[in-house]
Amino acid sequence: MTTYKLALIPGDGIGVDVTDATMKVLHAAAAKFSFALASETFPWSCEYYLETGTMMPADGIAVLKGFDAIYLGAVGWPATVPDSVSLHGLLLPIRKEFRQYANIRPHRLLPGVEGPLKSEGFDILCIRENTEGEYSGAGGRVHQGQDNEVAVETSVFTRTGVERILRFGFEQARARRKHLTSVTKSNAQKYSMVFWDEVTRELAAEYPDVTVSHMHIDAMAAKMVMAPEQLDVIVASNLFGDILTDLGAAIQGGLGFAASANICPDRSGPSMFEPVHGSAPDIAGRNIANPIAAVWSGAMMLDHLGETDAAKAVLAAIEVATGKGIGTRPGSHSTDEITAAILTALEA
Ligand code: NAI
Ligand code: MG
Repeated sequence: MTTYKLALIPGDGIGVDVTDATMKVLHAAAAKFSFALASETFPWSCEYYLETGTMMPADGIAVLKGFDAIYLGAVGWPATVPDSVSLHGLLLPIRKEFRQYANIRPHRLLPGVEGPLKSEGFDILCIRENTEGEYSGAGGRVHQGQDNEVAVETSVFTRTGVERILRFGFEQARARRKHLTSVTKSNAQKYSMVFWDEVTRELAAEYPDVTVSHMHIDAMAAKMVMAPEQLDVIVASNLFGDILTDLGAAIQGGLGFAASANICPDRSGPSMFEPVHGSAPDIAGRNIANPIAAVWSGAMMLDHLGETDAAKAVLAAIEVATGKGIGTRPGSHSTDEITAAILTALEA
């Protein structure tokens, strides 16, 4: 029997509740499909930071390297630890060190979930570049506090970085409905985004079976609202993808349904799976967090590990639950009730 080694980082707030819920479902899926999950839980969180002065130990990355995948609930507790510390001390180093350059987020309406749009038949996979671009961290400030203060933040687009994220997008499109939309702003940003467009055209020649569209970020924002059913795979830079995936989460009914994966496509390190939402301090500890985004992220992890039937079964079980109206509206059911409904559907 295959055993997968999982590193669990429940983190803070509702991250802990939704990680618990996810692992219950994943263990049930493992039993049903005859594989095993050996998980180790790491307490790295804001509480850990307050005790130790760091979000994770110095050898944290080395420890995680030995696992097949990482599952993260959510980190952040802004009342006691600034978000810049919690984010830069854990999540970002993991994404960078393991070259998880593809952040992928599915956007579609689950059965029974009411979205804010007229259109219901959309199924989008948004792929965000996760390591460079506008969030490269290159820049600085001079003359701080003076009238002539200057802040410079430089976007960095490398051929390696742009080519690999687009190639990943083409591969995903090939496995889906064979349509890729590359999102840039090459009318206004005439170096980096024109470069991105060029690389897209070069790669398109290698994927003649995939139809390619080019769109500017502003037009794409409008399209996701007006005609999302026309979209399949979207590939965007770090900043653009960040914004579009919040829009995607909104049109799919909210953060309770938004799943994500940080993929290291060459598998030189573990990939990390996590719901899009944060630790939600406003509802933490009340058993009302929706675990669906987290469980869906868990299904993406099973898929990545090669357990595709189990992944499909978990997603189908989520759909049976939401189809019955369970977990479809904020506050309608508790975290435990939604988890139980998914488990019942999975074991049926
Ligand atoms: P948030 O996603 O935690 O919450 C935003 C709103 O959505 C809140 O009203 C919350 O109650 C609600 N919400 C979120 N997930 C929900 C769920 N599963 N079920 C029901 N309602 C849900 O974002 P916020 O408040 O901006 O950030 C809180 C903390 O989380 C901060 O420290 C932030 O830095 C951190 N954060 C961490 C992320 C991560 O670990 N990947 C991602 C986003 C935020
Ligand atoms: Mg964001």
